[in-house]
Amino acid sequence: MKIAVPAETKEPRVAASPQSVQKFIDLGASVTVLKGAGVKSGITDQAYRDAGAEIADTLESLLGDADVVLKVNRPEAAEIKAMKKGAAVMAVMNPLDAPGAVEEMAKAGLTTFAMEFMPRITRAQSMDVLSSQSNLAGYAAVIDAAGEYGHALPMMMTAAGTVAPARVFVMGAGVAGLQAIATAKRLGAIVTATDVRRAAEEQVKSLGASFIMVESDEEGETAGGYAKEMSEDFKKRQAELVAGHIAKQDIVITTALIPGRPAPKLISKAMVESMKPGSVIVDLAAERGGNCELSKPGKVSTHKGVIIVAHHNVPGRVAADASSLFANNLYNFIAALYDKDAGALAINWDDEIVTGTALTRDGNIIHPALAKGEQS
Ligand code: NAI
Repeated sequence: MKIAVPAETKEPRVAASPQSVQKFIDLGASVTVLKGAGVKSGITDQAYRDAGAEIADTLESLLGDADVVLKVNRPEAAEIKAMKKGAAVMAVMNPLDAPGAVEEMAKAGLTTFAMEFMPRITRAQSMDVLSSQSNLAGYAAVIDAAGEYGHALPMMMTAAGTVAPARVFVMGAGVAGLQAIATAKRLGAIVTATDVRRAAEEQVKSLGASFIMVESDEEGETAGGYAKEMSEDFKKRQAELVAGHIAKQDIVITTALIPGRPAPKLISKAMVESMKPGSVIVDLAAERGGNCELSKPGKVSTHKGVIIVAHHNVPGRVAADASSLFANNLYNFIAALYDKDAGALAINWDDEIVTGTALTRDGNIIHPALAKGEQS
């Protein structure tokens, strides 16, 4: 089985690491990486070579005979063109943002898998790119906030005076939020958090942070463990609770998402204006419209002295680790589909890790969510 790893042209991550290359080779596959693909993740061509990969100079020589193509993001037109019919492609596909691109992949006869649709079952945890990348985003959010904040985070009692600890408020305590809480705690901040899912309370408290939440009988969690859109009454009461709390915070990190919907707006202009100048908001939901009304997606902006950080692709800000964990997720997925005796993928089309992620096969779009026009 020939595995090919192109470069990501729009971001620093890469879909294979020297460690994943080594594991693919141990499995019996061969791996070719495009020249320079790992540079922005701190991986040289020589490091890939040392792990057993070959380096290709052109897309055509890389992809022409590849059975499996590993990407971070959906393949671009030139890559699709260079791939052979029947090649399997694994990446974060974001198919709902670009239905035309999925059609292109189907037309090219590619078998494609959207890694972000991996079901959240125990067996697939090691294949879950959303978790591996969100975890690093939660960490990076705190580091970004600390970089913008003109004070230290921990309390310091020095001969020259005392530095007060920063107050950090994390909105949304899923994978990213929990890592943000843990990171801010390690830096010595006083941390509070909120979520609409009651189950989050115990996890927040186990990290040493305090939990605040609207008192309500309304269930904020779906059977799948995700948040759901809350009632107008809940939203109003949440806004009141948050408004009182936010005015006393130095750093606010928002991570709140509802699958298949725009990010809920949790921080209004008035709330931003209630914060002290020099306070920092980091909006991890920027790519999905943002949790803060004033976020400028992709930018760092200032409103009345409050700094609002709304970077795109936050995992790419810790690209070396993000690539390494992403590469492991892909390896674990492929290893589960691989038949060692045949030396090729032997895809079980009834397995839920396949039915959950497969987008196109034999010229057709097969994912049910694409037919319905919504994410599973
Ligand atoms: P996510 O990225 O979809 O959302 C982030 C957080 O925002 C969630 O905790 C959500 O409840 C919260 N949120 C949504 N609307 C909100 C609002 N209006 N106000 C405050 N908070 C709001 O979620 P993520 O991080 O992907 O995790 C969702 C759940 O899935 C968690 O329970 C997590 O532990 C679980 N999970 C399970 C896995 C598995 O079993 N394999 C793997 C990863 C996560």
